[in-house]
Amino acid sequence: MSPSVLLWAHPVVTPHSLAGRQATLHMESGGEFIPPTAGPADIRAATIRSNLSAMPSLDPTDWRDLRSLGHRMLDDMFDHLAGLAEGPVWQPMPTDLRQELRAPLPRAPSDPAAAYEQFRRLVFPYATGNLHPAFMGWVHGGGTAIGMLAELLSGGLNANLGGRDHAPIEVERQVIAWAAEMLGLPATAAGVLVTGTSMANLIGVLTARIHLLGAGGRRTGMGDVRLTAYASAAAHGCIPRAMEIAGIGRDSLRMVPCDAGGRMRLDALAGAVRQDQRAGMTPFLVVGTAGTVDIGAVDDLAGLAGFCAEEALWFHVDAAFGAIAMLAPKLRPLLRGIERADSVGFDFHKWAQVPYDAGCFVTRTAEPLLATFAGDAAYLRRESRGLAGGGIWPCDLGPDLSRGFRALKVWLTLMVYGADAIGAAVQQSCDLAQRLAARVDDTPELERLAPVALNIVCFRYRAGAAALDALNAAIVADLQEEGVAAPSTTVLDGRLAIRAAIVNHRTRPEDIDALIQGVLTRGRARSMRAA
Ligand SMILES: Cc1ncc(COP(=O)(O)O)c(C=O)c1O
Repeated sequence: MSPSVLLWAHPVVTPHSLAGRQATLHMESGGEFIPPTAGPADIRAATIRSNLSAMPSLDPTDWRDLRSLGHRMLDDMFDHLAGLAEGPVWQPMPTDLRQELRAPLPRAPSDPAAAYEQFRRLVFPYATGNLHPAFMGWVHGGGTAIGMLAELLSGGLNANLGGRDHAPIEVERQVIAWAAEMLGLPATAAGVLVTGTSMANLIGVLTARIHLLGAGGRRTGMGDVRLTAYASAAAHGCIPRAMEIAGIGRDSLRMVPCDAGGRMRLDALAGAVRQDQRAGMTPFLVVGTAGTVDIGAVDDLAGLAGFCAEEALWFHVDAAFGAIAMLAPKLRPLLRGIERADSVGFDFHKWAQVPYDAGCFVTRTAEPLLATFAGDAAYLRRESRGLAGGGIWPCDLGPDLSRGFRALKVWLTLMVYGADAIGAAVQQSCDLAQRLAARVDDTPELERLAPVALNIVCFRYRAGAAALDALNAAIVADLQEEGVAAPSTTVLDGRLAIRAAIVNHRTRPEDIDALIQGVLTRGRARSMRAA
């Protein structure tokens, strides 16, 4: 056993072992002498005293080894961040290492340094790759060194932000106020940090539902009311899923057709609402999208806000990544109307570069959230003073009771870099997207498949033989497996597209050029082999 393991192991004396030692007993940890005349009650009492004094804490008794290991971990991570571009974007985890990870529940302690070596060998080299400048798949943020350090600090505090009166909750309130300021929502705005926009959008649906039904709906459910909601045909899959989870059902979500730019058609929305009203349905919610997942289109938010105001419908905006474009002065006008939303869901872990996970839900005032989520359990009784004070608790504003200190990494990111630098990174992504779109348009072997409103470019290699979908899927898998670049794919109008979503603040023009070159090289090679 290594010295550091010994530091963590404490002896526990059992009644059995005491009985076996009968006459004279010198307790190992308590040093307590038990005379030969001691009866069972004396032995039991001594056992309890002994066990308590030998109770294991998970803290080491000597911190030196752990401290130096912690410093090494930090150095390793800084080295990793500083050298990101030198390594592959991603590499698949070998089967034997996957197998090695599968082990029975460890009952005995391990040396922390040895456990860390396991992490370095089995986990560290095979992560998603989204920190790498050439990662352009899905919508993944790149994270920052400050965000990483914030995770260390919040882990150290281990605060529970479900409620009570403490500074970490004040930090989250500040972050929510900054979110509202960024979006142009009123100073009365309230909200919570959540895992991601999927959860934020679910909160939007739940809140809109209770807003329509009234607080009684929490007891009775929907009764005979047949609710209907509306989102564009390009809305993210978490919106129908939220309808399912809310018990309203995905069939009650009308997927409204889009215009050529991928934006919800207002005339089609109005038509769908009218039709449902005539059929005895109760429209309650419109979800606008600021940055559709496939192509980054932004709905006419001002138009939607006006329509919802006229029809008394709850207006929620899914601004998963688009919200952060509010920090880029040239892009901000695209989102005009978001400031009139009843609620907004978005992520700090995408374009704001905060490490996972950091979603956010904001609404204009706390009341609709309180009506939807507040509880009165005796064990969560609020007081006007002491630790159980502190005003509205976050657990009354969302579905979670225990909640981590996500707010710290958002707070530190915005404090250290400043909102303008985050906005500049957003603008840079969009400029790079324009560069990529221009390169695609100038290359006859490539074809662009969608307009570029923000940071997403969908295109494909078109010079191959007939099976272009399979060819383009293979090109993307080649690029990923070779560690060259990591775009993802989607299907637009029935055609498989290579989809590059530029989100990472580290991505540079040369990464865009390497993506183009990589697609062309692999497209040509595969086409030649197929010919
Ligand atoms: C438009 C949109 N909405 C919702 C989501 C879901 O967000 P999350 O993955 O944070 O739950 C995404 C994710 O990319 C998205 O692009």
